[in-house]
Amino acid sequence: MSEKNKSILITGGAGFIGSHVVRLFVNKYPEYQIYNLDALTYAGNLENIKDLESQKNYHFIKADIKEGDVMHELFLEHRFDAVIHLAAESHVDRSITNPNDFIETNVLGTANLLNAFRAAHENSFEGKLFYHVSTDEVYGSLGKTGLFTETTSYDPQSPYASSKAASDHIVRAYGNTYGLPFVISNCSNNYGANQFPEKLIPLFINNIKKSMPLPVYGDGNYTRDWLFVEDHATAIDTIFHEGTLGETYNIGGFNEWTNLNLIKLLCQLMDQKLGRDKGSSEQLITYVKDRAGHDRRYAIDADKINRNLGWKPSVTFEEGLEKTLDWYLANENWLDNVTSGAYQTYYKKMYS
Ligand code: NAD
Ligand code: TYD
Repeated sequence: MSEKNKSILITGGAGFIGSHVVRLFVNKYPEYQIYNLDALTYAGNLENIKDLESQKNYHFIKADIKEGDVMHELFLEHRFDAVIHLAAESHVDRSITNPNDFIETNVLGTANLLNAFRAAHENSFEGKLFYHVSTDEVYGSLGKTGLFTETTSYDPQSPYASSKAASDHIVRAYGNTYGLPFVISNCSNNYGANQFPEKLIPLFINNIKKSMPLPVYGDGNYTRDWLFVEDHATAIDTIFHEGTLGETYNIGGFNEWTNLNLIKLLCQLMDQKLGRDKGSSEQLITYVKDRAGHDRRYAIDADKINRNLGWKPSVTFEEGLEKTLDWYLANENWLDNVTSGAYQTYYKKMYS
């Protein structure tokens, strides 16, 4: 993207990763006008971007990407130079319970944005960009060895992963068919501030804090590859500005952990921070029924983005985790607010 592209629509910017991306772009590029579009589902929270409200180059649009006509009108009104598309239903367990929500938002919603983007730029795509943010889960599950590269065949296993895979395919098809300029990135598991406590790390931090059981799915020997969310945001910035049109970039930090080892580390760090006896939080570990169709291992080969664009993570896992724990402990109100109300119903349904 050239400097001239000044009006950028970021979708899902009230969510976890989106809020970090919006913050980075608003603060780093005062010459850009940043439009944050979000439907404010259970996962969207204006508290996540409260510090940006008074910035001159920041605008919030409450809208639902499932509504094609609304997207069409919006794009005709603003003719955004670029889109960074993060809005999605993002939790695997919810996709098992309600797959259609994922198909509607992740597949249809993405198609609505692509159609609106095309209509707004029907004369020329010159200097425009549609950046689609995706996940490593589209590649399926690895055995004990091997890494996901950009050429690994798609083999999604959950309704969430398959809805993201479908959206990736649709973006590429619009590139091929209509010449729509795009880039896609597929990132590993993120952690950091503002993550909704349905995902492993914030859910376990909250439960340790409240001395509640720590529900480990199956044998706990599932492997995930963890990246600090602010590093994902800098990778998106790098790809947005330096990436090659039509390319895919895998994003990760070569940081694999089995769930059990990660949970034990979390317990140790939390014991230290909360001044509890060594080993006390680990006693909260409870093995529960496994997730249906649970992917055994994810691991990203991030060599391409490192070699071609010079991007690498800025923090080690230990540093990132420490920052994350400190944030959740310092932001009790945030955690209490998002875990009241509907969260209680979700939690009971999922875990009791
Ligand atoms: P999140 O669930 O925290 O946030 C999603 C945001 O999208 C929320 O603010 C929500 O209100 C909004 N949204 C949902 N449906 C919408 C709709 N129909 N219209 C408009 N807005 C809607 O998700 P996240 O973890 O921040 O993930 C963001 C993106 O990154 C997703 O596309 C996800 O697939 C991808 N991703 C996530 C991870 C991860 O570890 N969390 C890893 C790789 C890729
Ligand atoms: P999650 O954070 O949901 O991310 P994803 O499934 O997209 O990788 O889960 C990370 C891992 O932790 C995954 O192997 C499932 C496991 N897990 C548990 O064992 N217990 C839990 O309560 C949750 C939410 C996840």
